[in-house]
Amino acid sequence: MSEQQDPFVKTFALLIFLMSVLAVGLIILGSVIASLTDSGPDVMEVEAAASRIEPVSKVALTDGTLFVSSSLVPQAPPEKVEPEAEEASAAVVVVLDGEGVYNTACVTCHGTGLAGAPKYADQADWEPRLAQGIDVLYEHSLTGFQAMPAKGGFMHLPDDQIRLAVDYMVAATE
Ligand code: HEC
Repeated sequence: MSEQQDPFVKTFALLIFLMSVLAVGLIILGSVIASLTDSGPDVMEVEAAASRIEPVSKVALTDGTLFVSSSLVPQAPPEKVEPEAEEASAAVVVVLDGEGVYNTACVTCHGTGLAGAPKYADQADWEPRLAQGIDVLYEHSLTGFQAMPAKGGFMHLPDDQIRLAVDYMVAATE
């Protein structure tokens, strides 16, 4: 009896072999094409997406100074800068002047004489206060004095700005 294989089995085995070679070949071809064309996420697209989801504004109160960072705030024309430097150029430090502090923190009481507060620009109210000397007025504004709350209750404002508000009120009595 010959050991000759059935021609069908022979053909079938050959076919399976060829298909396996073809499959391996396709896998290799696929990975070669992928490595040639895939250069990672598009940098422009990532940047555009980041700018679309960027918050409109950021506000942080640190130690009495108001930092406003906003895409609505005019910014320097775009130039090649480090990310941190770009962040800093978008931040605007708001420092109030005496009038600004007064209108923010003091006018509620000193505008009307509420609770016995010496009224703004009222000579008679301020005369005995002024007699104590400016340093006492600064001190009482910063630490509080009877019905006068320390810093008018605006504890986050820096001492300098409170003094500016005192100067502003004192100037109005002259
Ligand atoms: C909640 C009300 C209130 C606010 C807000 C307020 N004050 Fe007064 N302030 C008073 C009152 C009341 C007095 C009078 C206190 C007294 O003599 O009994 C006073 C007194 C003063 C005096 C005179 C102190 C003295 O020694 O005679 C100064 C100066 C002053 N305030 C500054 C300020 C400044 C600056 C601000 C804002 C940063 C401010 N105050 C906000 C109520 C207020």
